[in-house]
Parts: sequence; structure tokens; C-alpha cells
Amino acid sequence: MPRVVPIDPVAPDRATLAEAVRVLRDGGLVAFPTETVYGLGARAFDARAIARVFTAKGRPPTHPLIAHVLDTGAARALAAAWPREASVLADALWPGPLTLVVDRASHVPAAISGGADSIAVRVPSHPIARALIAALGEPIAAPSANRYQGLSPTLASHVVKELGDAVDLVLDGGPCDAGVESTVVDVRGGAMCVLRPGAVDLGRLRAAGAVAAGAIEVRRETADAGTPRPSPGMDARHYAPRARLLLAKNRDEALRTAALLLSASQGERVGLLLCGAHESVLSHPRLVARSLPGDPAEYARQMYRALHELDDAGVDVILAQAVPDGEAWWAVADRQRRGATSSSQ
Ligand code: TXA
Ligand code: MG
Repeated sequence: MPRVVPIDPVAPDRATLAEAVRVLRDGGLVAFPTETVYGLGARAFDARAIARVFTAKGRPPTHPLIAHVLDTGAARALAAAWPREASVLADALWPGPLTLVVDRASHVPAAISGGADSIAVRVPSHPIARALIAALGEPIAAPSANRYQGLSPTLASHVVKELGDAVDLVLDGGPCDAGVESTVVDVRGGAMCVLRPGAVDLGRLRAAGAVAAGAIEVRRETADAGTPRPSPGMDARHYAPRARLLLAKNRDEALRTAALLLSASQGERVGLLLCGAHESVLSHPRLVARSLPGDPAEYARQMYRALHELDDAGVDVILAQAVPDGEAWWAVADRQRRGATSSSQ
């Protein structure tokens, strides 16, 4: 098992940070909390360490990573060009859960971008993430600290469960605040195109982007056949629990389908994930039920944790009540959709 060290999320301990920096300088991997999910950190300019990140995750080497830096100046230093749209969004939303895709500067090794000529940059707000970047004095490449296509980690224990010894050190700063990954916006070519809905919601993004007098485009589809995949977050299957995830369009359909599965003779264990307060749901020895809050931010904060718990309970199938339509739910609805897509699609 990796070494797991508790660290104060408000005032991170210097000695622990120094240990993490030593691990990174030795080419090791350090998992740390951000305001979204836990990241699997490596020195961004260390090609061997970057290669270890891909191996640890089981992620194809062409799927690019995000470089985490302390401020806009450090982000610009990694970019070949910094369009006005980048400045506008960065000024409004950094530090915070926004990732910008820009042209990669030629001095930045291509490994972090999976060979692409772009680079994703993000300025996190979490004190531990910031203190770690400051102590290292260099950008940190960090994908979510989970196996490829699996559930993102919002607790240190999720990282240990997913990655085990593939990570050298886990900084345990408690639960992540947003619980869902950053919003990724491609700002190349004078446009603002959302590649991944995330913790910055569409309303805040529009309010910020309006200053640039440009429309925000949301890419809904996965890459068209024959075109290069725009980013791994756009894969049809992603963010998925081990159990088969089925979406029910409302509470009644979720309950009905759960009852049906439980009455079948095969003896499957069923997980039920409802949205909003519900007093009494079904009760059955093979049923594990959870209700998440009806508020989108609260739901997002607890979503991955609830799915991890259902997986840990050993259910074969999870019936999730689809969250309401509407922009406030965009990130959660996106993860539900991708988690529920079967790998054969
Ligand atoms: O909240 C987050 O963003 C977390 C924390 C740790 O910062 N990180 C994270 O990283 O979610 P990862 O690797 O699991 O997802 C990165 C996403 C990819 O799915 C992809 O959509 C996009 O960022 N991405 C990264 N580099 C890109 C690039 N050069 N071009 C297009 N998309 C890119
Ligand atoms: Mg990820």
C-alpha cells in the first residue's frame, strides 16, 4: 500500500509538503486533493514520471494530462499563444475548477499532451494543491487519481483503492469540495468550446465569457468517426462504476425496475441511487439504497462517493434516477450519461 499522510487542508504542514516534493523530484507520483477531485501528480517536465502516470492509470498515452500551475502567468508560460478568450475566462474564474486548452509552447515536452500540439492548463484553488505546486516550484501534471474510465476519487481512500502501490504518496486532505472534475474549455482559434462540463457551471461560464462577446459552444458529441478524438473526457464510456449503471428516467421507474431485478431468480445485488429526499424506499436483503440531495452542487459533491460505496458493497447493477433536466445539472447529467454507456457502444 502507498504511504498515506494526513494533511491539514487549510494550513498544510511544511514537513509533509517537503516529503511530497522529494518524491516528485525523484520521479515519483503524489496524489493530492484539489477543489474538484484528487489528482495523481507528477513533475510536468519529467517524461519518465509522466509515463508512470499513464501506466498507473492504464490510460492510453495519447490522452493528454492537465498541467496545474499557481497563476495565469505560469499558465501563459506553457502556451504558444494566449488568446483574449483565455484572459477573460482566467481573470474571472481562476483560481478555480476551470481548465483551458491552448496551443502548447514548443519548450514544453509533448508527453504531457499525449503528443498533441495543445496543452490543458489549470490554476487550482485548493490550499494543498497550491502549496504543493509552490513548494515544487514547477507545474504539476495531474489527471484524476483513478484507473482509466473509472470513478474519480473524492477521498484519499478512493485513491488507495484504485491505484494501490502505483502511487508513491497520498496526501489525505479530506473530502473534495466540488466532487466533480473541472470544466474544460478549448479557447484556441478565437472560440470558446466546452470539451467537458464540470464544476464551473454554464451560467458562470457564460457570464464570464460574455465579456469576450463570444458565444460558448458546448460539444455534446464524442468525436465523429474518422476525426481525431478531441479529448479522453469525450469518450462515450467514462467515469463509470464497476457495477453496470442503468439510468431510470424518474423515481418511480427506478423503484419499479429495482423491484423487477430483485424478483428475478438470478440473485443479483442491486444498488439504487435516488435524487432528492425520499422517506421509505424498497427494502430487500439484496438491495443497497442511497439518496443524494436534490440540489445540484450538493449532489455533485457526494456523487462519486456514493457510487464508490455502492461498488464497495458489491452490487452487480446500479439503478440511478436520472437527475433533472437543466443547465445547473450539466456536469452530473454528463457523468451519468457516460457512466451508463456500455463499453461496447
Ligand atoms: O478537476 C480536474 O480537472 C482534475 C483535477 C485533478 O485537476 N483532473 C482531471 O484530469 O480531471 P483528467 O486527466 O482525468 O481529465 C483531463 C481532461 C481530459 O478528459 C480531457 O478532456 C481534457 O482534460 N484535456 C487535457 N488536455 C487536453 C488537450 N490538450 N486537449 C483537449 N482536452 C484536453
Ligand atoms: Mg479523469
